[in-house]
Amino acid sequence: MKTSRTVLLASLAGVGLALSLATVAVSAGNPVEERQAAMKSVGQSMKEASALTATFDAAKAKASMDSVAGAAKKLKGLYPTDSANDPKTGADPKVWTQKADFEKRLAEMGSLATAAGKTTDADSFKASFKAVGETCKSCHDVYRMKKKPA
Ligand code: HEC
Repeated sequence: MKTSRTVLLASLAGVGLALSLATVAVSAGNPVEERQAAMKSVGQSMKEASALTATFDAAKAKASMDSVAGAAKKLKGLYPTDSANDPKTGADPKVWTQKADFEKRLAEMGSLATAAGKTTDADSFKASFKAVGETCKSCHDVYRMKKKPA
């Protein structure tokens, strides 16, 4: 029967839509968790990359640095104004009062990482990897709370 099949298909499509809307709601609802997870992945990539300063591997260097650069892009969108007072954030309120400087620093971390990923020898990698690492502390000194809320 044609009608019931159409109804069935329509309701299946409805379920699919509801599921995908639920997924969107979850990810849009937790920018704090998402940015903390993205920062953690940056930390992980930096750890992997630091091993390459001893035994250089151009492909691995590119992969880890591209991942940092990708995170920098993603992070830019994860500081909506209404997340400033979230009790779980470890971000300093200055992120929102000095947003342009904050975003400039994120972009710098990204472009330095992209550059580090393009190096083809250990010495250049070491130097450019160090430059990426310096962006972490200098930003954290200003924009990250000394102690993350429990
Ligand atoms: C543009 C500023 C900026 C730069 C650059 C930056 N961070 Fe962060 N980072 C932050 C802020 C702000 C937080 C706190 C985020 C929150 O809790 O909402 C944070 C948090 C973190 C955390 C804790 C995440 C958690 O689980 O709560 C880690 C780990 C981290 N950063 C690693 C790094 C590393 C490694 C680098 C350099 C490669 C780096 N960050 C570069 C601003 C920055």
